[in-house]
Amino acid sequence: MMALVLGIETSCDETAASVVDEEFHVLSSVIESSIDQHRAFGGVVPELAGRAHVATLGPVVRRALIEAALDPLDPDILGIAVTSGPGLIGSLLVGLSAAKAYALAWGVPFVGINHLEGHLFAPLLEHPDLEWPLMTLLVSGGHTLIVRQGAPGEHVVLGETIDDAAGEAYDKVARWLGLGYPGGPEIDRVAQSGAAAALTLPRSMTGEDYDLSFSGLKTAVVRATEKHHDVAVADVAASFQAAVAEQLLRKLRRALEHHPVKGVALAGGVAANTALRAGVRALAQEFGIEAHLPTMALCTDNAAMIAAAGTYRLRHDTASNYDLSARPNWQLADVS
Ligand code: KG4
Ligand code: ZN
Repeated sequence: MMALVLGIETSCDETAASVVDEEFHVLSSVIESSIDQHRAFGGVVPELAGRAHVATLGPVVRRALIEAALDPLDPDILGIAVTSGPGLIGSLLVGLSAAKAYALAWGVPFVGINHLEGHLFAPLLEHPDLEWPLMTLLVSGGHTLIVRQGAPGEHVVLGETIDDAAGEAYDKVARWLGLGYPGGPEIDRVAQSGAAAALTLPRSMTGEDYDLSFSGLKTAVVRATEKHHDVAVADVAASFQAAVAEQLLRKLRRALEHHPVKGVALAGGVAANTALRAGVRALAQEFGIEAHLPTMALCTDNAAMIAAAGTYRLRHDTASNYDLSARPNWQLADVS
């Protein structure tokens, strides 16, 4: 039988567990979210998220093992991969403590995985034989990075946001416009019927590096709508969406020009964005490389990507020790 890895993810509001084999086939992927508890607050409430993980993680792990045809009391697995950072400290600790307990009970090793490295493994779950190197635009509610991967586990962060994440900007602008939370899907939907040229919004960070910024854009939207009271919400959404996509795609293009790769990938929740998906497809065509746009279930937070990273780490590195602690601010650039 193939060596299986159990992945556990509890860094934010998703409680997830998954079993993946050594060839990156996903045998099971269970995801529960406490998002409904946070909606009224317009953002994830850490205390509520942590409590939800405690109640949900046990049943989620059990389901992931059963769906993978394993004995939930004594599964035949190679080891456990658990997100140990970055993320909400109280949420990370629930997953990490559980992973240690399972590892001890089942007599298997466990390894702490950087959540962002996990996202970088998502394209591999659909294309285990993809060609390297790969350029990935990782865009979520908490992170915005452009990363070049020479091979699995080998990554160089070329640039990242110096303030808000792209998804965070979407959520803030949506709240300003009176749209729901999370705001990304709402703005994306409303923008389809708007005119992108309706508002003149600035493009920031147009320099020669790969860094990004979204906080000025958010402020510019607020100013512009205060000035033009009569502008339609759809037009604001379309103008904002065009500005975000242009900023991201401009830096991604620069990265592709200066760091040749065989493929370009999107990861993170904002990978659902229609403008971004179309833009990345167009870039791939222009550069004659492969576009990897994983299905949304793999782009948003899940445990299959953590298990995939763990499969690699358990094969190439030593396992973690039981004194491993959660690292809420663990940077991808610090992963060795
Ligand atoms: O990766 P994710 O599920 O959670 C983390 O942040 O880790 O990403 C959620 C983010 C939210 O900010 C949400 O507004 C954004 O992704 N998002 C979108 C779209 N769908 C989700 N942003 C823009 N366009 C979308 N279609
Ligand atoms: Zn994430």
